[in-house]
Amino acid sequence: MAHPFAMFVQKSLNSATNMSILDTIHVSAGAVPSYDRTKELREFDDTKSGVKGLVDTGVAKIPRIFLSPPDDLKEKVVSDRTHVDVGVPVIDMKGVRENPLLREEIVEKVRHASETWGFFQVVNHGIPLSVLHEMIEGIRRFHEQDIEVKKEFYIRDPTRKVRFNSNFDLYRSRAANWRDTLLCVMAPHPPSLEELPLVCRDAVMEYSKQVASLGLTLFELLSEALGLNKNYLRDIGCAEGHVLINHYYPACPEPDLTLGISKHSDSDFFTLLLQDSIGGLQVRHEDQWVDVLPIPGALVINMGDLLQLISNDRFKSVEHRVVAKRVGPRISVACFFGTHLQPSTRIYGPIKELLSEENPPVYRETTVQDYVEYYNSKGLGGGTALSHFKL
Ligand code: OGA
Ligand code: NI
Repeated sequence: MAHPFAMFVQKSLNSATNMSILDTIHVSAGAVPSYDRTKELREFDDTKSGVKGLVDTGVAKIPRIFLSPPDDLKEKVVSDRTHVDVGVPVIDMKGVRENPLLREEIVEKVRHASETWGFFQVVNHGIPLSVLHEMIEGIRRFHEQDIEVKKEFYIRDPTRKVRFNSNFDLYRSRAANWRDTLLCVMAPHPPSLEELPLVCRDAVMEYSKQVASLGLTLFELLSEALGLNKNYLRDIGCAEGHVLINHYYPACPEPDLTLGISKHSDSDFFTLLLQDSIGGLQVRHEDQWVDVLPIPGALVINMGDLLQLISNDRFKSVEHRVVAKRVGPRISVACFFGTHLQPSTRIYGPIKELLSEENPPVYRETTVQDYVEYYNSKGLGGGTALSHFKL
């Protein structure tokens, strides 16, 4: 059966959007481009209402800009290894500060999970349930507020610290995702209070403070798991910055034809993710997609490309995605640790202490900014950006 996505040609955009231009041509079955994709992307973008705006108009069919390539949809098959016992490791952080023996065990679990799955969940991490709950609710309030107020935040300008839009890579990706996002760059230089949307301002400030502190603990554990002194990753600046990426995945009328977020690995050192109870996040493990089941009160941690780079491939930045669902909305908050969007001259390469004759560097050195710029120019769904930095 011919899929409507048999072929498309993504044409270049004007430079006013300040995007790098990829003229991507995917041809299957020798078809011709059947519609002006760029025009339809721009029409969608111009509504400033995102996917939620579409859903609110009552669409029964998803617009064709959202149709995922057949290759991606074929991969919808999911492993039955979804039970927590056989799925992504769950690590109990209780005692990590007070009990050296427990800490050693925790570090060992972090090491194993980071080398194999690239993903784990943490419980007893010290952030109160009420803070997690209020953050999810704050993000819900933002996305569900009066559209005229929300539109004021709709922007693609990469220099802005607070921006709401649908699909940061809308004009570069192969298919648009069923998702809207509010992004807040919180550290090292937070936005002014007035820049943060009123309906979630307090929640975002509090959550940012709490994850910064948990992030430091996790950087200590990751340092120790690499056999380095506990302050190593902090001392080289990994913990200086974080960005809150607040997603809203509306219920989808045709969930088998699109994705909430295309498969990708993250561009940061590591990501700390808060998800609600809807589910849909999946991680690639041993050639299968495995559900990352929501556990009340837990946070998901995954390695990012930059940690894979500086650990010289020891820690794995693993592909993951979010499937679309008939139920929703689903809300998640991804905290990216890294100095994204900050001009920086700090150079990152494979950590010297980890290298030896048997383990020579696999990557060249780069700055966070250069890495992220390259990553973002590709858009999601197009394979890893890391290979570009291989020696
Ligand atoms: C991301 C991401 C997953 C989710 O923001 O990079 O993978 O569950 N999010 O929203
Ligand atoms: Ni991700």
